[in-house]
Amino acid sequence: MNKLITIERHFVEEQKRHPQATGELTDLLYDVAFAAKLVRREVVRAGLADILGMTGTTNVQGEEVKKLDLFANERIINAIGQHGRFALMGSEENEGTIIPPKNETGRYVLLFDPLDGSSNIDVNVSVGTIFSIYRLTGDDPKKADINDCLQKGSRQVAAGYVIYGSSVMMVYTTGHGVHGFTYDPTIGEFLLSYENITTPARGKYYSINEGSTEQLNEPTIGFLDWLKKEDEATGRPYSTRYIGSLVADFHRNLLTGGVFIYPATKKHSEGKLRLMYEANPLAFICEQAGGRATNGSKRILDIEPADLHQRTPLYIGSREDVIVAEEFERGER
Ligand code: AHG
Ligand code: MN
Ligand code: MN
Repeated sequence: MNKLITIERHFVEEQKRHPQATGELTDLLYDVAFAAKLVRREVVRAGLADILGMTGTTNVQGEEVKKLDLFANERIINAIGQHGRFALMGSEENEGTIIPPKNETGRYVLLFDPLDGSSNIDVNVSVGTIFSIYRLTGDDPKKADINDCLQKGSRQVAAGYVIYGSSVMMVYTTGHGVHGFTYDPTIGEFLLSYENITTPARGKYYSINEGSTEQLNEPTIGFLDWLKKEDEATGRPYSTRYIGSLVADFHRNLLTGGVFIYPATKKHSEGKLRLMYEANPLAFICEQAGGRATNGSKRILDIEPADLHQRTPLYIGSREDVIVAEEFERGER
């Protein structure tokens, strides 16, 4: 029988292998895994409970919010915020920063998208939670402010996501590879199922909302044509896969190889996705797995943030494919 490694044991073993690592990070990640279990419990029952439907409110992005988004948001804030490890939090669902219920001792900042792909909940399609962790810039948790949240992605100390799919998985990195855990509901534990995930240099899938073709700029259209052209050497044409839940699209492409694109469009010059709690954490994971993530010209992790909810165009996935997208963006192809 294969050795069963729980997420907790994995965190502890990773910590031992990296003596410079503090136990704090292990605790933080365990808090996130715990919150994920609470969200999972509701997500898998979403079709049963009277929890579906619109709340009638919109989030700070001006988008409709479903009850489960708010539920997940509250659960994460309460479950994680109780432990005193985070001084400050930022969520897709909250306009300003959130002071956790117990923050006096926290040395870290948590940024998160509580429920990603929420339009897919009521049609039983995978959704996710995305998170990003930074160390405070100063020593005093009471002085933590928005500037502690607005650090560039390369300063993340950990990032990850949970995908609530046909099985539930948590995937994370602390800068020492990418590891994936599958939830076993019979014992209530995340078990190590993918160690040191690496993504293929070239993919076989491309993921974009192609319905918005009329909104796309020339370089994006050029890249899409390239992806669809037959070419034996590069395995083209690639197949289209688009779920509409970033976590699920990213996760599939990470494992199988592929490129996800949410570009700047004529209408949305900054794209749709959010830098701080969508692009940055996934970019950290992608790079750790050997992939590449840019806004078309600049590395996502090097973007200096100005706003908690700022958007960015996103090209993420297999290295060679993202490089081709950038060549189109520069007009070299
Ligand atoms: P969220 O549900 O957190 O608002 O995110 C939705 C995002 C992302 O998950 C997905 O990649 C994208 O919206 C899909 O957008 P389109 O419907 O424009 O393709
Ligand atoms: Mn999202
Ligand atoms: Mn969301």
